[in-house]
Amino acid sequence: MSSDQLIIFDTTLRDGEQSPGIALTPSEKLLIAQQLEKLKVDVIEAGFAASSPGDWDGVNLIANNVKGSTIASLARCVADDIEQAWEAIKVADRSRIHVFTSTSDIHMEHMLRKTKEEVLKDARESVKYAKKLCDDVEFSAQDATRTDKDFLIEILKVAVEEGATTINVPDTVGYATPSDYLELLKGVYDDVKGKNEDIIISTHCHNDLGLAVANSLTAITAGARQIEGAINGIGERAGNTSTEEIIMAVKTRQDQYGVDINAETTEILETSRLVSKLTGYPVQYNKAVVGKNAFSHESGIHQHGYLRNKLTYEIMTPDSVGQEAKIVLGKHSGRAGFKDALDKLNIELDEESFNSSFETLKKIADRKGEIVESELLAIVGQVSTDSAPVKLISVSVNSKDAYASATVTLNVEGEEKTESSEGDGMIDAAFTAVKTILNSDARLIDYKVDSITKGSDSTAEIVTIVNDGHNLKQGRAVSTDVVQGSVESFLNALNK
Ligand code: KIV
Ligand code: ZN
Repeated sequence: MSSDQLIIFDTTLRDGEQSPGIALTPSEKLLIAQQLEKLKVDVIEAGFAASSPGDWDGVNLIANNVKGSTIASLARCVADDIEQAWEAIKVADRSRIHVFTSTSDIHMEHMLRKTKEEVLKDARESVKYAKKLCDDVEFSAQDATRTDKDFLIEILKVAVEEGATTINVPDTVGYATPSDYLELLKGVYDDVKGKNEDIIISTHCHNDLGLAVANSLTAITAGARQIEGAINGIGERAGNTSTEEIIMAVKTRQDQYGVDINAETTEILETSRLVSKLTGYPVQYNKAVVGKNAFSHESGIHQHGYLRNKLTYEIMTPDSVGQEAKIVLGKHSGRAGFKDALDKLNIELDEESFNSSFETLKKIADRKGEIVESELLAIVGQVSTDSAPVKLISVSVNSKDAYASATVTLNVEGEEKTESSEGDGMIDAAFTAVKTILNSDARLIDYKVDSITKGSDSTAEIVTIVNDGHNLKQGRAVSTDVVQGSVESFLNALNK
């Protein structure tokens, strides 16, 4: 492995699975491991074999079936843990035993209840034993960032003396900042790795202060050549470094990091989705790289720039991570975005229809956020009301028990007229008010409301068929407000 190779160590199946509420079965773990193999992560930490029979089975199943990555199992500095880890992973083409112990005063005193000397002895004996079984041994000093610096260096040196080839410096509680983690890692690099080409310095950062990715990346500049992370950043408490964010940061900012990685970035989205589906942990919409909105552009200014040149608002291509770029039509969208959406649907509108459709879109988006394709189709199918002689200004309705009333204000050829009526339900009351204003005896022959999208904020398409005494006329309208849309549809028919 060249010294400019960054090893991606994915611990979704071990630390990630330690998130509250996640319990994957061995076969679910295998599915994720096979996807991680497609993503070409270098090391898959498949679990903590000694922690439960189910975890042992999961680690072993993965070791038997996944051949493209090194398979690791975690183990405490306890002989039985190390033996169980080895038993579970030894069938893999490449295996690693990952031994850890706590090294900070607070952990040694309250968790391990051991002195520094005892912890040093445990580390020495355990790494030595693991090395007898497996050539690839990683040693982690849990809570390294709150550990006395001299003791940390001492214990890491012991691990190297006994044959550990990867030395991990975890920020277990997510306490470090980029500057102090950088300093710490520089010290470990100089004092523990030195010129020893075989030793890899590793990071393992938790996200309690939201700094896990930043801390991990800064360590590359201090010479770290392994980063541990979990897909979607899952893990204990606020989670781990997001594997996918590291991969894309390193790929996108080669000018800063200049290290090679093996990852197949186009598998990122699929991996994220699978992990989310099997763990039940949703991915936040605006999550970097894998969020549903990570490549969506909503505001008019952004859409305008993006449509002229993608680089105006895109630092990596969506297809490079398996995503698709999206122009989202919403209340902030401009004409350029609307036109682009129409072009994609091969819809050409004359100027008047374009303007009135754009106005309807803005009105609907103001109430319900994102406009989806079916709504867009309904909006452009709606007949322009710009030059109509009668336009709706407002409608308000009231309904109590069996009694309904409506007050409607219309603009009738430039003159504002208001009328209140009662009726058999709110729609009937509103239609009666309209007919009173227009002095019309038109009869409603058919009335149909279709919801275009799901949910209580759904957009409705309302179709009315009206007999004006001579002909049948059809009216259409699209709205999130059924009463308003119904009156608009009724007027659309009458205006014909
Ligand atoms: O956060 C941590 O310190 C760990 C170790 C076991 C590596 O998960
Ligand atoms: Zn951890």
